[in-house]
Amino acid sequence: MEIRIGVIGTGLMGAYHAETISRQVSGASLAAVSRRAGDLSSELPSFRVHADPHALIADPDVDAVLVASPDETHLNLVLACINAGKPVLCEKPLAPTPQECLRIVEAEVAAGRQLVQVGFHRRFDPAYIAMKKTLGDGELGTPLLLHCVHRNSGVPAHFTSEMMITNAAVHDIDIMRWLIGEELATARVIKSRSRPAVGICDPQLLLIATEGGIVASIEVYMNAKYGYDIRAEMVCETGTVSLGQPVEITLRHAGMDTTALTLDFRSRFAAAYRSQLQTWVNCIESATSAGASAWDGYVATAAAGACVESLVSGSEASIRLVKRPALYQ
Ligand SMILES: NC(=O)c1ccc[n+]([C@@H]2O[C@H](COP(=O)([O-])OP(=O)(O)OC[C@H]3O[C@@H](n4cnc5c(N)ncnc54)[C@H](O)[C@@H]3O)[C@@H](O)[C@H]2O)c1
Repeated sequence: MEIRIGVIGTGLMGAYHAETISRQVSGASLAAVSRRAGDLSSELPSFRVHADPHALIADPDVDAVLVASPDETHLNLVLACINAGKPVLCEKPLAPTPQECLRIVEAEVAAGRQLVQVGFHRRFDPAYIAMKKTLGDGELGTPLLLHCVHRNSGVPAHFTSEMMITNAAVHDIDIMRWLIGEELATARVIKSRSRPAVGICDPQLLLIATEGGIVASIEVYMNAKYGYDIRAEMVCETGTVSLGQPVEITLRHAGMDTTALTLDFRSRFAAAYRSQLQTWVNCIESATSAGASAWDGYVATAAAGACVESLVSGSEASIRLVKRPALYQ
């Protein structure tokens, strides 16, 4: 059976996902989009266009929904998918506030089954998977510290200091939990020097501690100019493990040895986005689940919220979570 997918929001990320579904995911087809098809390649096989995203969710010819509209639209769309009993892959963050994420968790618990996956694609990146496997093998001893770097060459003008955390660092927060396998306890944000010309507090240094006392430093720098640069190094008792970088060529020329950098997240994480979609489709077929759950989406947003609290207050903030429902044990 082919899974017929509807994509809501066909901007930068939604158009990319829609084309990946159509061209690179087996057992699935692009059935519909909302609201417009203008950003999609005209060479894709035909699909329906719904002006109203709720009409797409109700469409009997749509089996599953991918939500890639702006963050503040996620809550109502994901709730509508759960009400319709349709699996939904929602781009991160699940919703901008922990209270909104909890409403999704509660709706899923009431439905009695996991229908939501959150688009934390790094969990599908071969380098992060290799890093997690190495940690699991145990040769390096207990993990002690994690150093993460998240640099973008630039961000749109509407990007705020808070969005650097809730929209960008939320990826590092989720991957930290996934790599370490412990719940998060406290957050502190240290601001860099003020640069009025930049308009936002960029870069920022996030310090997040787990319940077991492992600390992560997460540098978020959204106007790094030179390229897209994602790094991670776990420091353990008897060694360290670092994230490998996708390198296509190394150039030796005019007395220099240079390596090309990826310029944005789509080229850096192409394999991860593809694998995330393929796994999602396979899980729908087999009625199983994988990747980040609604609970993971809630915890990441709650931790991001504590970081924003610390950014404003200048003090350490606690990451307060409700009890994990049995559905997510
Ligand atoms: N996983 C990742 O690496 C990654 C990267 C970038 C963005 N994102 C996430 O993807 C989502 C979209 O981001 P983007 O950069 O593609 O934004 P974008 O602005 O490029 O695209 C958003 C699209 O949604 C449409 N839209 C707005 N409101 C809508 C609604 N109510 N219903 C249907 N469509 C609506 C807009 O017309 C636009 O086409 C965001 O949640 C963002 O955080 C994830």
